[in-house]
Amino acid sequence: EARLRDIREGIDHGRFPAYVFNDQEIFDLEQEKLFGQAWTFLAHESEIPKPGDYVTRYIGNNNLIVARDEHGEIHANLNMCRHRGNMMCKSEMGNASHFRCSYHGWVYKNSGELIGVPYLAEGYEGKLKRKDWGLVKARIDTYEGLVFGTFNEDASSLEDYLGGFQFYLDLYLKQGPNGSEVHGPPDHWITETDWKIAAENFAGDGYHTPVAHQFGFNLGYFPSSGATHSQGWAASIPGKGHGIGLGHTPGFTPFAGFPDALTAEIKKSLTPDQVEVFSNTRTAVGTVFPNLSFLMQPFSLIPGETGVRFVTMRLYHPIGPGKCEMYSWCLVPKDASDEYKEAAYQAYTLTFAQAGTFEQDDLENWARLTRMAKSSAAKGIEFPYLMGMETERDEDFRGPGHVVKPYVNDSNFRNLWGRWADYLLGEA
Ligand code: FES
Ligand code: FE
Repeated sequence: EARLRDIREGIDHGRFPAYVFNDQEIFDLEQEKLFGQAWTFLAHESEIPKPGDYVTRYIGNNNLIVARDEHGEIHANLNMCRHRGNMMCKSEMGNASHFRCSYHGWVYKNSGELIGVPYLAEGYEGKLKRKDWGLVKARIDTYEGLVFGTFNEDASSLEDYLGGFQFYLDLYLKQGPNGSEVHGPPDHWITETDWKIAAENFAGDGYHTPVAHQFGFNLGYFPSSGATHSQGWAASIPGKGHGIGLGHTPGFTPFAGFPDALTAEIKKSLTPDQVEVFSNTRTAVGTVFPNLSFLMQPFSLIPGETGVRFVTMRLYHPIGPGKCEMYSWCLVPKDASDEYKEAAYQAYTLTFAQAGTFEQDDLENWARLTRMAKSSAAKGIEFPYLMGMETERDEDFRGPGHVVKPYVNDSNFRNLWGRWADYLLGEA
């Protein structure tokens, strides 16, 4: 408690300790106080479009079945049989109207109701009521196709939790009149990286880009990006932990990279303020607190050409101190042609899918950071989060939150770790 108070105070003064990026006690506290309380991303609705479709995902260390029932409604149920606790569903995606436990044979509908108990009348003599023993339900709520869940009955609504960050999320999600959809199942893999390092990077670390990804810049993958530190904005929602970096290149064609026919439609689905802000955005990288991130980027294999815009959505699922399972999806405009979707997916695959060049650039650094955080000397070390301590809000900017110039700034990270500390202190 005293140590957490120190950390909380340090954040406001631009300091954050190294050891928290790989520590058992912090990990255990996060499981209970953060992932047990906050909203967690579960799935995109387009992953389970038909009745019976399901995926298995996590809230903290709890495995859940996220399924669409016969009426089209989505449910998230703990993947644990109520009889003796067996894991109900062993595959990570599929289609099923019912789940039957492989131990004693209890049967549940995909909505979670218990409907079948072998030997019910004879064995239980009327003492077991099926309606009392359905699968344990998580609360769920959605925004523009994103399904979030929590076991916290007292959590505020998802809308309140996002706290205005929807304005920025729309850039990734409202890619046309029918929004966006996932292109294929997510890549997922385990990495020796603490989830917080990835969450911070995607909350707007424009600082690392020209260095860690220098190779990509040299190849000319990014049209009209000057590998500069100075342009664009960093936006965060105070006290909510979300942050986004909006890279800007003067003279860059607004919405370049989207199919022309779709650009007009995209503008219609946005507010005038969003159109103005997004017109100026070449690249956008953001984190929804705590561990869901997005990136949008025009990409071309041919230097000088605009290429296509691709969007990746990623989740850093913590599985141990200094260890997480990464999930990475490609989001495409639902209304785009198959050719465009394929081209966007190819750009994603080359850059930020599991084997993408940019993903590898980052992972290599993140895994080393994680390893260093575990060393005994790291216990007493703090990092400077001092960049842009005095910058004032840019009053001309038409998006919500605390918005500062330039893009390279630690203000988003102070907001992110401030919120994190508030959760661990039980004061969020
Ligand atoms: Fe599932 Fe017994 S543990 S039926
Ligand atoms: Fe990176």
